[in-house]
Amino acid sequence: MPRSASSIKIAATLAALVQRTHASSIYVSPTGDGSGTIDSPYGSIQAAVDAAKAGDTIYLRAGTYSPTTNIQITHSGTATSPITLRSYNDEAVIIDGEELPGTPYGLDESLPNDERGILHIENGNYWSFYNLELINGPYGIYSRDSSHNYYERISTHDNYESGFQIQGAASNNTVIYLDSYLNRDPRKNGESADGFACKEGEGEGNVIRNSRLWSNVDDGLDLYMFGSPVTIEEVYAWGNGFNLWGFSDFNGDGNGFKLGITDNPPANHVVRNSIAFSNAKKGFIDNGNPGSLTFERNTAWNNGDNGFNMRSSKSTLKNNIAAVNTNDQVSLVSGTQSSGNSWDGSTGWSNSSFLSVDYSTLAGARGSDGRVKASDFLVPASGEDIGATTQAQI
Ligand SMILES: *[C@@H]1O[C@H](CO)[C@@H](O)[C@H](O)[C@H]1NC(C)=O
Ligand SMILES: *[C@@H]1O[C@H](CO)[C@@H](O)[C@H](O)[C@H]1NC(C)=O
Repeated sequence: MPRSASSIKIAATLAALVQRTHASSIYVSPTGDGSGTIDSPYGSIQAAVDAAKAGDTIYLRAGTYSPTTNIQITHSGTATSPITLRSYNDEAVIIDGEELPGTPYGLDESLPNDERGILHIENGNYWSFYNLELINGPYGIYSRDSSHNYYERISTHDNYESGFQIQGAASNNTVIYLDSYLNRDPRKNGESADGFACKEGEGEGNVIRNSRLWSNVDDGLDLYMFGSPVTIEEVYAWGNGFNLWGFSDFNGDGNGFKLGITDNPPANHVVRNSIAFSNAKKGFIDNGNPGSLTFERNTAWNNGDNGFNMRSSKSTLKNNIAAVNTNDQVSLVSGTQSSGNSWDGSTGWSNSSFLSVDYSTLAGARGSDGRVKASDFLVPASGEDIGATTQAQI
């Protein structure tokens, strides 16, 4: 090994050792009532959060946690020493919010800000979260005015508002391998519970990747009034906007991807290699966002209205597919740049234009690397390189 490489390696090892002497591991178990060690874990996630300093890792042992007050994360790690909250050794951890206030409140009642979220993150920066399942809460994850947070393999389902919401001043948050489904809001008859929302705020660098958003009462993904570009890659939204709960005056919107409204400034969201299918209404919709959105290699299939509906944004759409949707495949304001899309050619598209219209692999267990497993779902039978694919792109 050249001298420089070995001295770099030694320096890195020393740095790791120094780091280790300062960083603590804090343990929590559903049956614990100790002081946070592995042999005597805390019983309360909040106690662990309150004890955690920059660089620390909180390990949740297997089981179901049922807090009666939500978990407030209001302090920060640092860029080089984030605070981590994760399941221990990939043990199965469920945090069940059913005992929290607001699950649900009555029709038209308000849900106070502090009560939102099983995990309520406010002014909490530089946290990392791994492998947690959040159910039956007044939102699963609710992040307000928080930046530089990283979320991997989170599952949010059956919550009484959106599964996962980022709001306010929010930059550089990364969400990867999220599954968010069956979230609903009896309080609003379906008007606002989405799978993933980044709403009413602004901030650069927010990204969601390789995530699945299905059977939520309102939309799969909603960027309502978020004034900065969000990057959306390999996100799959299906079956959203159906009244599976028998709400009386149903208000669910039912779009796969709702990418506005934003007026000032317009937000130039980027959507790549994503699929909207079998949603109650539209696949991808700008919802009045006047920005310049970018759509590359996405597919809208079998939705209950247009595949792509851009009523205000002069978007750039390249190599996308809209097929087998109920109304016009696309409805695009004039000034849109459109090239290489299914609607730019003369070929008609039907179910038989695809190698497969069976989404069971996409909806099935993820691979050990966290990604959804590859399949032929909605891959063009012609071999044309257009539309989204779960297969590696060459
Ligand atoms: C977001 O991250 C980028 C790249 O690391 C950095 O340049 C930028 O300053 C960050 N933005 C904010 C608001 O911290
Ligand atoms: C296309 O396939 C889907 C899934 O099998 C089916 O629900 C739908 O009715 C088909 N549409 C047409 C127009 O054949």
